[in-house]
Amino acid sequence: MMLRSPVAMRATATSTRPAATKFLLTVVVVLSLALATYAVPLSRPTCVPEERDALLSFKEGVTSDPGGLLTSWRRGSDCCRWRHVRCSNQTGRVVALSLRNAPGGAELDDRGNDEGALVGRISPSLLSLSRLRHLDLSRNYLEGSPDAALPAFLGGLRSLRYLNLSGIYFSGEVPPQLGNLSRLRSLDLSSDFGTQLLRSSDLSWLARLPLLRHLSLSSIDMSRAPDWPRAVSMLPSLKTLYLSSCSLPSTNHWKLPAAGLRNLTNLEELDLSMNHLNHPAAYSWFWNVTSLTHINLMGTFLSGQLPNALDAMVSLEILDFSYNGNMATMPRSLRNLCNLRYLDLESSLVGGQDIVKLMESLPQGCPSNRLQQLYLANNGMVGTLPNYKRLRHLTGGLQVLDLSYNNLTGSIPLSMGNLTSLGTLDISYNKLT
Ligand SMILES: *[C@@H]1O[C@H](CO)[C@@H](O)[C@H](O)[C@H]1NC(C)=O
Ligand SMILES: *[C@@H]1O[C@H](CO)[C@@H](O)[C@H](O)[C@H]1NC(C)=O
Ligand SMILES: *[C@@H]1O[C@H](CO)[C@@H](O)[C@H](O)[C@H]1NC(C)=O
Ligand SMILES: *[C@@H]1O[C@H](CO)[C@@H](O)[C@H](O)[C@H]1NC(C)=O
Ligand SMILES: *[C@@H]1O[C@H](CO)[C@@H](O)[C@H](O)[C@H]1NC(C)=O
Repeated sequence: MMLRSPVAMRATATSTRPAATKFLLTVVVVLSLALATYAVPLSRPTCVPEERDALLSFKEGVTSDPGGLLTSWRRGSDCCRWRHVRCSNQTGRVVALSLRNAPGGAELDDRGNDEGALVGRISPSLLSLSRLRHLDLSRNYLEGSPDAALPAFLGGLRSLRYLNLSGIYFSGEVPPQLGNLSRLRSLDLSSDFGTQLLRSSDLSWLARLPLLRHLSLSSIDMSRAPDWPRAVSMLPSLKTLYLSSCSLPSTNHWKLPAAGLRNLTNLEELDLSMNHLNHPAAYSWFWNVTSLTHINLMGTFLSGQLPNALDAMVSLEILDFSYNGNMATMPRSLRNLCNLRYLDLESSLVGGQDIVKLMESLPQGCPSNRLQQLYLANNGMVGTLPNYKRLRHLTGGLQVLDLSYNNLTGSIPLSMGNLTSLGTLDISYNKLT
């Protein structure tokens, strides 16, 4: 870079005598080097030697780096210029390590990771990075060995705002030391490989993270954590809560302590899917959390009538209530849910419900027809397909309509043609003519 500087080039071009050229060049190079080292700290501080050594120790804990994520991490260079490292432009301290292994179209292995994943362990040397705010190591094989425990020392990274360890094959108990990360905004310990390797039997440490906005513990075994609703109700800033496939204990979370609900006024996304809750839907605590925009209750086996309070959840955009074992019935009306875009009730409703009545309970009288995807397959619904007058509230919005595997009879009304934005219509496996 230095030799390409215009001054150095001109020096070469205009000199005639070799010795003088050499001397002049040396002077220019030395001068610009001096200028560079003097100028850099002003515009962009260089890395702190202790932090560079900590990062190199972290690299030593990595036994395999097929994606070359750490190739720029070399002794003798400025660690603030290494890839995936970000320093504060004020102090030169490392503030972010973004080593997410993002599968970019490459072959996926049986863990769903691509071949670029780091292999090894997470070195405690990271504790030297006392200003680290953002740590993303997700989807790498950094579980170490032999017990693959989630390192409790991570609780010492006191400046962390964002910690993402999702998709790492840790097993054993989630260390309560994570409760020392009192500045955390976002914590993701989830996995999507189906098996629960991590478990937690006591979530009281969560209450020490009052700033938490995003929490994902999906696929962590929480069957022995009866206190989880109380722990969650202590997180007033929570916006997203993902607890899919957590084996949530069925008896203890029927209701949050009533006053606790007042603390969850910011909750927008809730995923409780794939937990066998097996109790009447009406007893759940979330139906009157009106800030919710996304609810995923797929495979929860909630039964009985969904409460009428659902019609007051006017922020709701996505409701997935699919695969719940055909034990539920709909509330009187969903007409006020003008923001609803996606409604999935596949394999969840008690047989014999009337299709026209259900269609009429959907959002209407709204400024615009927002409902785009409606899945009603395999619900044993009866009746004839509604005519246009009764579908008006769905025109202009509906893109997917799945009514397959029901007991619908009669002919297909010509006025279905008025659903002009429809891209997918499935009315197979009915008794239609
Ligand atoms: C330093 O970083 C902050 C954001 O992190 C940015 O707003 C600011 O412009 C940066 N300053 C310099 C001198 O690059
Ligand atoms: C954590 O990382 C995964 C990808 O590795 C990503 O899908 C997920 O959204 C991240 N979680 C948060 C809370 O940002
Ligand atoms: C973190 O929290 C645990 C208890 O959860 C505590 O014993 C420990 O002293 C705390 N401090 C550090 C630095 O881990
Ligand atoms: C609500 O949160 C505050 C702290 O953020 C806590 O002190 C209080 O006990 C919580 N209420 C309930 C009922 O959980
Ligand atoms: C939600 O409903 C329950 C009873 O069903 C009630 O005790 C609670 O106060 C309600 N919460 C809000 C925020 O409306």
